[in-house]
Amino acid sequence: MELLKTILERALAQKWSTGHFNVSESDHMRAVVEACREVGAPAMIGLSEGERAHLGVFEAVALRDAFRHEFSIPVFLNADHSKSVAAAKAALDAGFDSIHIDLSAKSLEENTAGTREVVLYARAKNPDVSVEGELGYLKGESRVLHEKITISRDDYTKPEEAKRFVSETRIDRLAIVVGNIHGISLEEPDLDIDRIREIRGIISQETALVLHAGSGIPDDQIKAAIVAGIANIHINTDLRVAYAAALRAELAAHRDEVAMYKLDAPAREAMKQIIKAKLTLFGSVERL
Ligand code: G3H
Ligand code: ZN
Repeated sequence: MELLKTILERALAQKWSTGHFNVSESDHMRAVVEACREVGAPAMIGLSEGERAHLGVFEAVALRDAFRHEFSIPVFLNADHSKSVAAAKAALDAGFDSIHIDLSAKSLEENTAGTREVVLYARAKNPDVSVEGELGYLKGESRVLHEKITISRDDYTKPEEAKRFVSETRIDRLAIVVGNIHGISLEEPDLDIDRIREIRGIISQETALVLHAGSGIPDDQIKAAIVAGIANIHINTDLRVAYAAALRAELAAHRDEVAMYKLDAPAREAMKQIIKAKLTLFGSVERL
């Protein structure tokens, strides 16, 4: 199976982006892998600390292995937004392929030291594991936001800090803040494409750039971000909204139905449609 690292290198060189899709149920994992298989894209599945507490880290790893076997495509599991070194190490110990250590709320020194510790731990365990760090203050959460979020350019990732952070931590991926907001925000995000280009130009070519909070960003901005050097885009809220809406409609339409596999089938299908549309937007189709 091709490594995540070389897939990200291909994406950067050919100006397309891999998709990273968050899940919290085995059903969602199947939706991601089926959609990726159908369009010929690698599957990157993310679970935040809350999502993995719900599904279970060992279950997620066992399901990943089962899906690799069943679908014969690369399937990667990412421990998304791990807020402590301990949480990151626990996911590594369980067998995750990728860790997002997110110490961005801490000081630059603490963020650098903690991220470096995770990189060293991961490399010692398995040199193929991919580690992502984060710099900048990324606001919002993965839901439909009804309140206005104000973002200051001071919260954006600073190119010089990014350069130092990447060279000191030796991370494989860097999550940046350039006007993106977790969740579907009241006002349309306005990504700073020049800032992406600047960061891309100043950090090691070995490190991929990641755009979190992909839901609610207009298609033209996503395309410009990819051209500027983004190679991995995270999507969560768009999937949650589609899944929940389809499930609600089905529950309302079939009040006597109690077979969950029947009730949630349209929800899985709705999720798959979104994933395929995003992969098409990212240029990730037929990239296996
Ligand atoms: O890490 C997860 C993503 O950044 C999801 O963001 O809910 O705005 O799509 P989103
Ligand atoms: Zn995120």
